[in-house]
Amino acid sequence: MQEIRKKALERVSAQCKVCPVCNGIVCAGKIPGMGGIGSGISFQNNINALARHHLVLRTLHQANEPDTKTSLWGREMALPVMAAPVGSVALNLGSDMSDVDYTRLALRGCRAAQTLAGIGDLPDKAGFQQYMDVVGDDGAIAVPFIKPWVNMAEITARMDMAAAAGVGICGMDVDGAGPPTMRKLVSPVGVTPPAKLEKIVGEAHRRGMKFIVKGIMAPDEAVIAADAGADALVVSNHGGRVLDGAPGSAEVLPSIAGIAGGRLVVMMDGGIRSGVDVLKALALGAQFVLICRPVMIAVHGDEEHGVSTYFAQIRDQLVQAMRLTGCANLSAISGRVLC
Ligand SMILES: Cc1cc2nc3c(=O)[nH]c(=O)nc-3n(C[C@H](O)[C@H](O)[C@H](O)COP(=O)(O)O)c2cc1C
Repeated sequence: MQEIRKKALERVSAQCKVCPVCNGIVCAGKIPGMGGIGSGISFQNNINALARHHLVLRTLHQANEPDTKTSLWGREMALPVMAAPVGSVALNLGSDMSDVDYTRLALRGCRAAQTLAGIGDLPDKAGFQQYMDVVGDDGAIAVPFIKPWVNMAEITARMDMAAAAGVGICGMDVDGAGPPTMRKLVSPVGVTPPAKLEKIVGEAHRRGMKFIVKGIMAPDEAVIAADAGADALVVSNHGGRVLDGAPGSAEVLPSIAGIAGGRLVVMMDGGIRSGVDVLKALALGAQFVLICRPVMIAVHGDEEHGVSTYFAQIRDQLVQAMRLTGCANLSAISGRVLC
């Protein structure tokens, strides 16, 4: 990973310093760029919220070879971690990599790592179609997140493209309602009334796709997502990029998992950097986590091999953390591992 990070730095140094810990301090406020919005505190809160929790060391048990395997709606996964969706890679990282190339490489890396790959959206439908064109045989692991377009036809058109590409899971980053540039487009983004969310979920289901609502930070919004029939939600503040002064995802995760966990799959992202962080997120109530910035760095460092190497490192760290907290498999992880 050191080599991969070194090579990535050569390609992205204009926007990202590939810091030893990707914590949002050096890049605070840099959007376009890799930072959190405004003061940058929402990004930093993601890191701090996880760091506040500690793990209970346990070694008097039999969990010597922990199993990190899981599955999501029939898809076997080597670990409960997936790549988060990304938009405007070249702009944000100052790199020479096109969004389409990024998507292709991330997908291949995720396939090699036996996990799933989030895919972003673009204002231009033709651009989204280009993403779907690179999905190829990977429809089962590709998870496009459509923006919360005000115009329903923009959403259903993208769902048609995704379904035609063989995609079986799609989602919406409902927290993508904010960026002023996106609100000024001919076809803008906006907030999503509950009745519209229900319609959107219905459209996904009608096309045979599961639906994930990404960007839930309040228990009452989790209930709305569940009532709308969503299959999963992601507790996320969009990497701290949409609302300054937001809490870290790990702070609000337990209350959201508590109220909605029995009704839909609870996922989480924001500040996950290691297998220890994955264990903490699962102990706080998530079933899956997503990782964004380090995956972007891994793609720039060694393309698909960078991604599979990064996920292998996360898996090794998770195995070790499970071994030393007494968790034989993912279902054995609970609040008991935290102190
Ligand atoms: C440069 C950049 C671009 C992003 N673009 C999108 C996007 O297009 N759609 C989306 O749902 N989330 C987007 N996100 C948010 C990520 O999917 C994810 O929620 C967040 O970054 C997770 O935090 P982490 O980077 O600390 O892992 C973006 C994040 C970054 C850093």
